[in-house]
Amino acid sequence: MKFFIDTANLDEIKEAYELGVLDGVTTNPSLMAKEGISGEERVNAHYKAICDIVDANVSAEVIATDFDGMIREGKALAKIDDKIVVKVPMIREGIKAIKYFSSEGIRTNCTLVFSAGQAILAAKAGASYLSPFIGRLDDISFDGLDLIAQIVHIYQNYGFETEVLAASLRHTMHLVKCAELGADVVTCPLKVITGLLNHPLTDKGLAQFLADHAKANK
Ligand code: E4P
Repeated sequence: MKFFIDTANLDEIKEAYELGVLDGVTTNPSLMAKEGISGEERVNAHYKAICDIVDANVSAEVIATDFDGMIREGKALAKIDDKIVVKVPMIREGIKAIKYFSSEGIRTNCTLVFSAGQAILAAKAGASYLSPFIGRLDDISFDGLDLIAQIVHIYQNYGFETEVLAASLRHTMHLVKCAELGADVVTCPLKVITGLLNHPLTDKGLAQFLADHAKANK
């Protein structure tokens, strides 16, 4: 299972990368705005800064919603660095753009996926990654994890090569459940990755070991 971090914050990306378990970075226009990054030039420079931190792939999202605009933006994003994966929304024009990018050898991440039908379309178009948003489904009382299970099953039925990238994770159990269900990738905030470290018995056990060692070595 691959771990991607879902942020545009350079310090968080560095921290996750230094942990040695990071396989990629996903961003979106809201995450870029949260960091105060605006304007095509600054946005592209920020993507380059992310690519320079990690030896891993970096999803960069197009803003255009028409085919020609997506192709123009996607090509420009792909030129920033070999690590860039072009993130394209799950809309009619997006599917056409994914098909085009796939024929040009440009990797894509189909984003804003909320149904198995959308997942089938994206795989047929040749998306490299598919991002079902499980937290946002949970938010409206649909089980996001059920969708992951359904998509993993469908992709296995047909040997689709599109990787299931579970997105919009809110907590560590989302991540663990995605692992059980066979998601290829998870993308989540830093606190979800570092949250995996925590167990009170680990803390208690380590405190005991150190205390015993100190006593014996007085
Ligand atoms: C995925 O690529 C998205 O950037 C992200 O996971 C959205 O998560 P949110 O629902 O927490 O905004």
